[in-house]
Amino acid sequence: MNAHTKTITRQDVAKLDAADPLAHCRDLFQLPEGVIYLDGNSLGALPKSVPPRMSRAIEQEWGVGLIRSWNDADWYPAPQRVGGRIAPLIGAAVDEVIAADSTSVNLFKVLVAALRMRPGRTRIVGEIGNFPTDVYVASGVAELMNADFVALEPDAVLDAIDERVAIVSLTHVNYKTGRVYDMAEITRRAHAVGALVVWDLCHTAGAMPCDLNGAQADFAVGCGYKYLNGGPGAPAFVYVAKRHHAALHQPLTGWHGHARPFEFVHGYEPAPGMDRMLVGTASQLGLISLEAALEAFDGVDMAVLRSKSEVMTDLFIRLADQELTGFGLATPRDAATRGSQVSLTHPEGYAIMQALIARGVIGDFRAPNILRFGFAVLYLSFDDVWNAIATLKDIMDTKVWMEPEFQQRKAVT
Ligand SMILES: Cc1ncc(COP(=O)(O)O)c(C=O)c1O
Repeated sequence: MNAHTKTITRQDVAKLDAADPLAHCRDLFQLPEGVIYLDGNSLGALPKSVPPRMSRAIEQEWGVGLIRSWNDADWYPAPQRVGGRIAPLIGAAVDEVIAADSTSVNLFKVLVAALRMRPGRTRIVGEIGNFPTDVYVASGVAELMNADFVALEPDAVLDAIDERVAIVSLTHVNYKTGRVYDMAEITRRAHAVGALVVWDLCHTAGAMPCDLNGAQADFAVGCGYKYLNGGPGAPAFVYVAKRHHAALHQPLTGWHGHARPFEFVHGYEPAPGMDRMLVGTASQLGLISLEAALEAFDGVDMAVLRSKSEVMTDLFIRLADQELTGFGLATPRDAATRGSQVSLTHPEGYAIMQALIARGVIGDFRAPNILRFGFAVLYLSFDDVWNAIATLKDIMDTKVWMEPEFQQRKAVT
């Protein structure tokens, strides 16, 4: 990795913490003692607002209110309400986002709906290195709809967007490398040739600002359990630009997407607006957890969050340059083209990550050789970054990662 001229000291790092405008947000989270959590890009940490809210939902709303809580505790409008809270984080209007289902399911719904808006066109353009579910769902939709799915290297995507293309389906921040697409540029190019764009915002929402409306984006999906901290398997969200609402024809025509679900009529009639993106009964406890978790973003300026994230990921890269040997960098050095993560590469990445986790520094491993570190800056300090690199250096210097216990592959990496 590159060498920098000026050595970074612990005093430099302390100065960054002293000037951190988001330092107070750490206290909004319940983090275990002795853990440096660099895996908020897989599963966000637990916000302190969640346990009391969940306890009320379970003991009172479910336990006492029973079925009445769909009305009395406002369970029924939760998908719209939670979507509306996510909207400002991704540059959307409140009635353009709804919380429901999983990212994979929402992707299926929007890809089919988008293909139906471009009759006569059959091509979906995507990226080879996209998260597998994006690739699998696009392939499945192509098979179902007699379309073709073309997956390309990231640098080849822009030039492949021509008049044959119905949909460009990309993940804004790549899950492995952290590389960011220029949302406005890709969307502009797609619209110039009459194509639509679907953005996966799993590694964007809550990690960095994003301006769907400003970019004139058509569709987006994303998950609630990473940087939004909604909890394991939290409901996902889906965005559809208002101009597409009237023509929106999604394939999973369940009763919660019906215009009058409680009239129990025989024929399907889509609800107006985003409500038609709903399918069946919402995962209510998941929505309640996600809604409480989103309180951590109240009053947070996403531009300030982005600036902290850029400085923090930059510090991690520069300390890795300074302290470590034998590692590569899979993430762009230019902060403007990097999400809130840093991916180091090492042929023994799996064992090294296991040794690191055993020492309380939690990141994750992505095959074949990536050690992935996510920076959820609401609950991380610059001192955490210093300590994480110091621990990694120690693991390498002492060769502790060679111990047999760190070689055994677990089911979830
Ligand atoms: C870019 C991206 N899309 C989708 C998913 C997961 O989708 P789902 O929540 O449906 O499992 C992930 C999970 O890590 C992801 O990184």
